[in-house]
Amino acid sequence: MMVLFATLPAALAAPATPAAAIVGGVRASTTDHPWMVAVASRSVYGDARSGQFCGGTLISPTKVVTAAHCLYDESTGQRVDRPDLSVVVGRTDLAGSAGQEVPVVDTWVDPNYDLNTNEWDVAVLTLAEPQDPRSVLPMVSQGDAAPYATGTAATVLGWGDLHGNGSYPATLHEVQVPMVANATCAADYHSGPSGTYDARTMVCAGRQSLGGRDACQGDSGGPLVVAGRLVGLVSWGEGCAEPGHPGVYTRLSVMADAVRGQL
Ligand code: ARG
Repeated sequence: MMVLFATLPAALAAPATPAAAIVGGVRASTTDHPWMVAVASRSVYGDARSGQFCGGTLISPTKVVTAAHCLYDESTGQRVDRPDLSVVVGRTDLAGSAGQEVPVVDTWVDPNYDLNTNEWDVAVLTLAEPQDPRSVLPMVSQGDAAPYATGTAATVLGWGDLHGNGSYPATLHEVQVPMVANATCAADYHSGPSGTYDARTMVCAGRQSLGGRDACQGDSGGPLVVAGRLVGLVSWGEGCAEPGHPGVYTRLSVMADAVRGQL
């Protein structure tokens, strides 16, 4: 189906479909965004970029929220057990050694998560050591629809592909994208190879006609932020930054209570 996490290792070796990546953004820093973490496994993804393969957000001193699909192999449909799964905190430049690599000691996947449809694409990682409480980003409230109003400015961050051609940066990037109307996104993804948009558990963001700004491979699980709150997680999309194919994000407001239940 769509270009998902499972394609990341392949994309690292051989470029996938070229498109614009975090396309169209600017450099960002974990000093300004201390809740932005890299989800990593050096044994699987190598040392060059600290083993990063997904993004995540600190929502409490010991908990990181990320996408459920980051913990699955989409080609086999199986849960992947990476023995050295860790979260990298405070490291803007993944080629460096700033901050800390914190082992993950427990994982929770939303019981409704469906690998085939990407509905309920949320997971919570428990860290071995508590982080600074001031580094936490608050989450949207259960049922709060306001941050998803069409046109609302949202920011997405990550260490993912910059151009949709396998250019994985060492440094964090961010880009602003407007929220897209449900009807628009449902029309953009009504069927086809990339998947079907489900307004109940997903939300789209991107510039509908212009494109040029988006999350991309490797950004999965990372935060979509509105007014200082975590409202979405990078989940999927067709290509990256293509007009008419906005990024699709997990709509956290429908699972916020379930996530809070894990804190
Ligand atoms: N599933 C991808 C990942 O694992 C994220 C894809 C996001 N794509 C997009 N066009 N917004 O990194």
